[in-house]
Amino acid sequence: MLRRPRRNRKTSAVRGMVRETALDVHNLVYPMFLVPGSGIKEEISTLPGNYRWSVDLLLDEIEDCLKLGIKNFMFFPKVDEKHKNAEGSNSYAADNFYLKAFEEVKKKYPHVTLITDVALDPYSIHGHDGIVRNGKVVNDETNAVLAKMAVAQARAGADVIGPSDMMDGRVRVIREALDAAGFNDVSIMSYTAKYASVMYGPFRDALDSAPAADANVPKDKKTYQMDPGNKREALIEAELDFQEGADFMMVKPAIFYLDIIHAIKERYNIPVAAYNVSGEVAMIKAAAAAGSLNYEDAVNEMLLSIKRAGADVIITYLAKDFARGRA
Ligand code: PBG
Repeated sequence: MLRRPRRNRKTSAVRGMVRETALDVHNLVYPMFLVPGSGIKEEISTLPGNYRWSVDLLLDEIEDCLKLGIKNFMFFPKVDEKHKNAEGSNSYAADNFYLKAFEEVKKKYPHVTLITDVALDPYSIHGHDGIVRNGKVVNDETNAVLAKMAVAQARAGADVIGPSDMMDGRVRVIREALDAAGFNDVSIMSYTAKYASVMYGPFRDALDSAPAADANVPKDKKTYQMDPGNKREALIEAELDFQEGADFMMVKPAIFYLDIIHAIKERYNIPVAAYNVSGEVAMIKAAAAAGSLNYEDAVNEMLLSIKRAGADVIITYLAKDFARGRA
């Protein structure tokens, strides 16, 4: 035998020398859930170890994260029922608690990256990412609201706008609205290939944003989120987002869609992000709690697989656990 691959695995030092992919906390984004009020830190029962935060406690938590090297954050709002309506108009009200929280975060920590969520589901009585008319989620009318939301977020201090809604053409509409309002330095991280996945359960619990059980609205998000069987369609979405000016292209979920991450990474030269979604994390936590596998090793291997597939940026609820393990 002239080729013995095992020679390059013989010691930990040799394995380290030839390791092709390594994780770095700088590539991680920590998604967090925000609620109005003060003194609130509520654990999400289906996503243990993750919380809904009021802004005062969020500021302390960010301090903690910064000590661990986490500098990139993504925020999602849990909106009070009284502010929800059919049009999701609270999403761009300048005094809404989510935008106020951005201002506070940026005042205290001007150098952290603040990534937003643009979609109507937290603000909609229907739980859909767009406006519903005659039982359908309407595209272009929704885009007009998303653009207003994006500009309001930029005005409140956002660094990166994150459209998670999957409407057609929204990256361009948002880019043009941001530029027209003088925010040409605010980036767009587009949810390029977001699949209609079973893996969003804990997130919808966290925000109470599951599509409403109402005969007049679609019961799922399959007319805008992608079919899990499709890969070439993801490349159409990628081409459109690239042309429309996205700065990052995201694949979501991550571990069930590693081939999609890889395909986009091979073809485009802008950063690829992958969202390690709530259900993926819940699976690992449940398996570890049942004694089926070692938690830290599972976290490392899962995140590594996402990076190896081609993700430059990984959005994960495990950012803090990962950073702590390494600290
Ligand atoms: C909705 C949105 C969802 C997630 C992020 N933004 C859920 C959905 O599409 O219903 C899921 C993230 C996760 O599960 O961690 N705009």
